[in-house]
Amino acid sequence: MSSHFDTIVNLAKNRGFVFQSSEIYGGLRSAYDYGPLGAALLRNVKDEWWRSMVQMRDNVVGIDSAVIQSPRVWEASGHVGSFSDPLVECTNCNSRHRLDKLENPQQCPTCGMSGTFTEPKDFNLMFKTHMGPVASEDNAVYLRPETAQGIFINFENVRRTARLKLPFGIAQIGKSFRNEITPGQFVFRTREFEQMEMEFFCRPEESAKWLEYWLEERKSWYMDLGMSADNLRLRAHDEDELSHYSSHTYDVDYNFPWGWDELEGIANRTDFDLAAHAHHSGKDLTYFDPETNERFFPHVIEPAAGATRTTFAFLLDAYGEDEVKGEKRAVLKLDKRLAPIKVAVLPLSKKPDLVDTTEAVAGPLRRRWDIEVDVTQSIGKRYRRQDEIGTPYCVTVDFDSLDDKQVTVRDRDTMAQDRIPIEGLETYLSERLDA
Ligand code: GAP
Repeated sequence: MSSHFDTIVNLAKNRGFVFQSSEIYGGLRSAYDYGPLGAALLRNVKDEWWRSMVQMRDNVVGIDSAVIQSPRVWEASGHVGSFSDPLVECTNCNSRHRLDKLENPQQCPTCGMSGTFTEPKDFNLMFKTHMGPVASEDNAVYLRPETAQGIFINFENVRRTARLKLPFGIAQIGKSFRNEITPGQFVFRTREFEQMEMEFFCRPEESAKWLEYWLEERKSWYMDLGMSADNLRLRAHDEDELSHYSSHTYDVDYNFPWGWDELEGIANRTDFDLAAHAHHSGKDLTYFDPETNERFFPHVIEPAAGATRTTFAFLLDAYGEDEVKGEKRAVLKLDKRLAPIKVAVLPLSKKPDLVDTTEAVAGPLRRRWDIEVDVTQSIGKRYRRQDEIGTPYCVTVDFDSLDDKQVTVRDRDTMAQDRIPIEGLETYLSERLDA
């Protein structure tokens, strides 16, 4: 793997973005904890998705459904029968692999032996557990492997209560769980992760048009938040890659350090899910169009993104290095909307007068944005630290500030410095952060 990948993983660990889960017990592979900066970044990614997919649209509403649902949901959706990956085991070293992800399907990547794999068998990816005190098959339940089914099973509840007319969308952000055969590449593929999914219901004959629409919308979302266009592409799935529910799927791929890989899937799920749930539950999940007097199952276009995977991609994309006065500077050029800390307030020294003024400056800012007050080390080192975590603005309170009631604002990207009256600081920052 490239050094860029290692740099970001180290930065994520050392600066408090992402920690290995259960680290003090030796770590639990494939689960991660988000530290103070990572939790803020992840939350900002999810907020931006929600703002663009729900808040800014008249015809999309949001829900928050349960992780544990009736096992009948997963029988109807096809996940019990078909949500599996091909598993092979090496008879030489006993390592297990996902066949479709192997570079050479004949050779074991762990021990290097060829021709030692068992016949592939379908391995179901759903986590199974038991509801209540008795661990029997009668009360087996699954942790959801996608948030989407919580939307389909609430289709009629939401349509009726929100008085929605086609075309309309139902969106949801939340945790999903998959017992991946080969988790890896840091938070790219984990067994517990977060998704941001929207099911867009439309008339069947309009599904091709809406698929095109959402492909463009979703690609633009990443670019609008600063992701480089060169690192993004849309890729159509081949026939043999399609999920059991999909007639057409495109991936929004990102150019990860190991090559192009999926950030988001955008699928035409047809009426597969609504029809399946209507059949299995016996409930009418058709839509009645009062204008044409028709009753039919809407078709569904689904943009399904990973919140944790996307957060990782934003980190990779934002990282850069340049030189300041002959010294290397590491900088995360995150979009201001995504930056975990928007403003750092830095007194030039720990002298009580300066610290008091710093608190007076920081107070009003804290009410509006995530800010950090840092009084340690030299000012140069503090700038470097803020650059490395992507803070767009540093406000320095110096000795002159006590007399002239002004502070210096430094821009992360240009490193230009402006002297601003404390009185006008909030407006100055607001014009730049909230524009
Ligand atoms: N409802 C459709 C669906 O779940 P998917 O392509 O399997 O489609 C959507 O998943 C997105 O969820 C992926 O593009 C990826 O970003 C994220 N995702 C899926 N499995 C993941 C995993 N094991 N770890 C992290 N993110 C994952």
